[in-house]
Amino acid sequence: MYRSHTCGELRISDVGASVTLSGWVQATRNFGGLTFVDLRDRYGITQLVFNQDEQPELADQANRLGREFVINAEGVVRERSNKNPNRPTGDIEIDVLRFSILNAAKTPPFTIEDETDGGDDLRMKYRYMDIRRNPVKENLIFRSNLSLQTRLYLSQQGFVEIETPNLIKSTPEGARDFVVPSRMNPGQFYALPQSPQTFKQILMVGGMDKYFQIVKCFRDEDLRADRQPEFTQIDCEMSFVTQEDILNTFEGLTRHLFKHTLDLELGDFPRMSYDEAIKRYGSDKPDLRFDMEFVELNEVAQGKGFGVFDNSELVVGITVKGQADAYSNKDIKKLTEWMQRPQIGAKGLVYIKYLNDGVKSSVGKFFDDDELNSWKEKLEAETGDIVFILSGEEEKTRKQLNELRLEMGRKHDLIKEGDFKPLWVVDFPLLEWDEESNRFHAMHHPFTSPKKEDHQRMLDGDHETMKSLRADAYDLVINGSEIGGGSIRIHDRALQSKNFDLLGFSKEEAEAQFGFLMGAFEYGAPPHGGIAFGFDRLCAVMNGQASIRDFIAFPKNNQGKDVMIDAPSLIDGEQLDELNLALNLQEKED
Ligand code: AMO
Repeated sequence: MYRSHTCGELRISDVGASVTLSGWVQATRNFGGLTFVDLRDRYGITQLVFNQDEQPELADQANRLGREFVINAEGVVRERSNKNPNRPTGDIEIDVLRFSILNAAKTPPFTIEDETDGGDDLRMKYRYMDIRRNPVKENLIFRSNLSLQTRLYLSQQGFVEIETPNLIKSTPEGARDFVVPSRMNPGQFYALPQSPQTFKQILMVGGMDKYFQIVKCFRDEDLRADRQPEFTQIDCEMSFVTQEDILNTFEGLTRHLFKHTLDLELGDFPRMSYDEAIKRYGSDKPDLRFDMEFVELNEVAQGKGFGVFDNSELVVGITVKGQADAYSNKDIKKLTEWMQRPQIGAKGLVYIKYLNDGVKSSVGKFFDDDELNSWKEKLEAETGDIVFILSGEEEKTRKQLNELRLEMGRKHDLIKEGDFKPLWVVDFPLLEWDEESNRFHAMHHPFTSPKKEDHQRMLDGDHETMKSLRADAYDLVINGSEIGGGSIRIHDRALQSKNFDLLGFSKEEAEAQFGFLMGAFEYGAPPHGGIAFGFDRLCAVMNGQASIRDFIAFPKNNQGKDVMIDAPSLIDGEQLDELNLALNLQEKED
């Protein structure tokens, strides 16, 4: 028998029991007469004791155990003389009578502790050892609970989990597709789904009026802390619903998940229109854990002879409470340089310090103290506060100030740990005009419906009208992270083909790519809509972390590589031949 108990379950009440444990050697400590071995498994750590006087051979063997050896030990539970209150098993130890090495181990390349000395790539290459560490292990267990609770809640609400295929035709969600060559159809390729979007809509036409799936999605896009090339969605679709029904159902899911995994009751789920979010926070995913709203200053700051402001579309500022003294000239210079980095691209940064002994500002030459004091009310600023102001082209300036606002929140500890602030951002624009490619892009995706009152305007309107169409599209934002997005869909062929037309698809292209969907719309498509949550992101945000990688058992690195299995990698010529790819490559080289 390998084990009668796990390494996490024995307590003082078990004293006297004969037990068998198996696990990994976390550490050995040799105190001459006594050798202690910490034995670890998924459930915890139990101390084993070997007595040199009583069992010299066994103790010698124990002294030779290396870290991460896998062993099996039999013995008797006894009370510890020096208890360890930090460990659930800290009251007891095992007086070992017999043990065997199940497998030896090389010295691990990094410490298997909560805080490890292993860098990212090393941890990923030896992920099996990384997973033995508590934080990673706990994240994976959390993830498992979260998916269990998701299934529980959604099935209680009448949703049916249905699998959709992975070898499909491209779905346009805005990223590039990963493609898979077809051996049986030379020269042809499948695409891996960026999401099951079209399939879930087809399921609605099929009458499965509440669908969900915890599903892998694949997007070939630039990677960031909160983006992986393959990630998981809680993907849902419902028929005969309004936006209101969907928001309520998924607010319910979110509340259920927080309650049953973190034992936390979430507060309100306020709603904010896209326009309002951009105006007040410069972002469509504002972090509401702290205030610091944007204050527009055009009215007071322009026309006073300061050219930079006068020539700007927008002058806008934020007030950082009580931090006037925290910024020396050097600090402001550093912050200005931070804002001028290409990632943010601000031209400069204006400040006003409201101090006990007057006002100090980088624009003091253009605005006297009385003038700057008169801005206080608008800025909701008091003595002791510092105000930062940016100016320039409206959209860019708002984006830049959003970065500064978030930096201020982090830097001045304005974000309370364990605080969760959900928000529905609603009323997104349907289309986005792109100057570069000279065409419209779908703000959400091409299947999103304009608001009912905009249907006719969409069918009849001119180019400018298209820019003002609003969609029944919504995002769930928690703590400044986009957790999910969805929309009410178009279920009418004419409107759908108009949308493809606006998005630059020719009739033939639209037919070739989405004929199956538009065709389905002609056979009784119910009104429908849905949403998808980023499951990895939800895990990370619920645990107060920015990176989704540690909630994925085998994530890719920033170059999209799995360094453990060494993927992607070259394939041999025979395989290329079989897939009819060798020819393509050869043609290219020639
Ligand atoms: P969307 O593209 O907004 O919507 O995706 C839904 C959610 O998935 C998460 N997400 C990601 N997570 C990790 N890595 C990525 N690369 C990544 N990309 C997206 C985000 C996002 O909010 N079919 C629509 C949903 C619908 O309309 O019902 C869709 O996929 O948290």
